Amino acid sequence: MNKKQKYIVANWKMNGTKSMLEEWINRIFLKAKNNSFDEDSVEVILCPPAVLVDRAFLMAQTYNAQNDFYLSIGAQDVHQKENGAYTGDVGAGTIKEAGAKFVILGHSERREYHNESNRVVNQKVNTAINNGLIPVICIGEKELVRNSGEAKSFIEKQLLESIPENIDIRRIVIAYEPVWSIGTGKTPTIEEIEEMVDHIKYVVAKNRKISENNVAVLYGGSVKSDNSTEIMSLEEVDGVLVGGASLDPDDFFDIIKSSITQ
Ligand code: PGA
Repeated sequence: MNKKQKYIVANWKMNGTKSMLEEWINRIFLKAKNNSFDEDSVEVILCPPAVLVDRAFLMAQTYNAQNDFYLSIGAQDVHQKENGAYTGDVGAGTIKEAGAKFVILGHSERREYHNESNRVVNQKVNTAINNGLIPVICIGEKELVRNSGEAKSFIEKQLLESIPENIDIRRIVIAYEPVWSIGTGKTPTIEEIEEMVDHIKYVVAKNRKISENNVAVLYGGSVKSDNSTEIMSLEEVDGVLVGGASLDPDDFFDIIKSSITQ
């Protein structure tokens, strides 16, 4: 994974239809045509609901072949087991075959509403990697934890427990998403983002005895086109994970643009 590359991830959560997907991809590529991109500097990843991954991949594949702009596809979750009697769940192999390159794992909404523990996230990361997917592992503290001054130690524990021991850290992406910032319009200050991203890189690099340059960390939580330039300008921030503002292709494209104007 190229350290200098920034990742811009659209997390549609439980939103989207076939027609919305088609309009969104058409619009993004139309806008991209009118802008010049340094292709190597940014990887844009769309994570629609699982049922739309296949269609998103086929559309992106056609456009990618005809344009300078490149769109990768990701999923929002996979099960920790390879396959089996888990009604309603989706396996990593199925998601990979549908065209996903990335998969978001351990999002706070999965942790909250599906009781996903660090241990389960850890298993999911292994399964995703074994199936050739790049996990985007989400971590982040709740407001109570931040106010108690324990955010750094909480994040450290989440990191060390959610990331399997023997994996190549260059094959994963970490997303720091303070839970209190998701969908609320509230964000940490730019200094607080910098401090926590630095801390995450330090903890992982020290624990795995690798260089901090090999640890990719995104910021997520109320990223919009009016704060993305500042966030993306931080040297240590390797990109952003965008929820609400990714649903509108024009807003999302402005966020993409903010990364290439750095
Ligand atoms: P938000 O969501 O951008 O709507 O705050 C981010 C996320 O949950 O990944």
